Amino acid sequence: MDQFVIKGGKPLEGHVTIGGAKNAALAILAASIMTGDVVLIDNLPDVRDINVMLGAMEEIGAKVDRIDRHTVRIDGANISSLSVDYEFIKKIRASYYLLGALLGRFRQAEVALPGGCAIGARPIDLHIKGFKALGADIDISYGLISAKAKELTGSHIYLDKVSVGATINILMAATLAKGKTIIENAAKEPHVVDAANFLNSMGANIRGAGTDVIRIVGVDSLHGTEYSVIPDQIEAGTFMFAAAATHGNVTVHNVIPRHLEATTAKLLETGCEITEYDDAVRVNASNLEQLIRTQVTTLPYPGFPTDMQPQMTAVLGLALGTSTVTESIFENRFKYVDELARMGARIQVESNIAIITGVERYTGARVAAPDLRAGAALCIAGLAADGISVIDDAYYVQRGYEHFEQKMQDLGADMELADSEHAARKFILRVS
Ligand code: UD1
Repeated sequence: MDQFVIKGGKPLEGHVTIGGAKNAALAILAASIMTGDVVLIDNLPDVRDINVMLGAMEEIGAKVDRIDRHTVRIDGANISSLSVDYEFIKKIRASYYLLGALLGRFRQAEVALPGGCAIGARPIDLHIKGFKALGADIDISYGLISAKAKELTGSHIYLDKVSVGATINILMAATLAKGKTIIENAAKEPHVVDAANFLNSMGANIRGAGTDVIRIVGVDSLHGTEYSVIPDQIEAGTFMFAAAATHGNVTVHNVIPRHLEATTAKLLETGCEITEYDDAVRVNASNLEQLIRTQVTTLPYPGFPTDMQPQMTAVLGLALGTSTVTESIFENRFKYVDELARMGARIQVESNIAIITGVERYTGARVAAPDLRAGAALCIAGLAADGISVIDDAYYVQRGYEHFEQKMQDLGADMELADSEHAARKFILRVS
């Protein structure tokens, strides 16, 4: 299993360019098979989760041509199966977007039921509620969800909880339903807007994405398009927090600063200097003796993203005084705290609140990434720590970050992806 090996303690400095948003791309890829025409998608991140989604699409008969690392051509003319295997759902929950896409286009689909995951139970009752409201019959048995409809008819759907996945899945099915659908209490995340923009570029009639009421007028069919995915706000935020934790000075390029407002607001509170440009943000913490404590609560967009919560905790572990981080979206998202403690962090978790007593330095240690964002947080801690850290299970980080170690190296970090204990030892000898 690959590991990240890091010799910490160096401020990150320079420029980094952010790739396409993984979570937007997952939805857009699924939606691309809602037409039999050819679709060209650009600015895709070259990360594991995207490759799994492309594999799932190929498995059901879509033709996927990689034009280059960040561009694919999808031809959904010959979809031959309406059933998505557990093998894919097990690797990425987002393959359930194929349920909404296939149901919309073929009025029938079957997807393995996703289980819980490292960060919580993650039910899909709201997706099902939405499909039922559109007239689909849902059957759950033998670990499969089957959705079938003679006709999909527009409906008025209220989501009891703000859910990105349910909003996008219902949006896709409703796009090809008869008549008008209203989704109330919809998620407002940038990737919901991107998925809606993509569908509109294929001929859908969706209004209001980015607000909590989305209105969809069903159309008979969708056509081919060319589309470029928005930049990844979580990848951007991760580099911004790495700059803060290492007292560095980093300009993060190819971002939409508006999507990063919650992240920049919190960095300002910790004492970092932030400069916003049209499509870049600079974080300067080089003049700061110690970061300043603050309080954060994760909330649906435009609130502070739960996908930045572990990275924020890693930063606040180095802030003077006592900080709190409250997780309000997922019930089990503090599993990484024990690993961070092994690097010297002083954090106590009470229910969904992490109470953090800042320390001056972390110390390098061997830790394991429990999931994608927590893995990134442990890397941030390793970059800020004195000495060597080894982050096992780098695989999780590679699910969502393209060339993470290379981008960090370009900012001056001593960090490498080692594919064996031998390679890790070689790196350690070289930097020691
Ligand atoms: C998406 C993101 C994930 C991010 C999360 C919250 C993708 C591929 N993943 O996940 O990275 O952490 O948004 O921003 O885009 N819920 C229900 N019933 C449902 C659906 C959700 O109770 O049917 C609950 C969840 O358990 C959670 C909350 O709603 O407590 C938000 O989940 P949701 O927004 O659906 O997350 P995902 O779409 O799975």
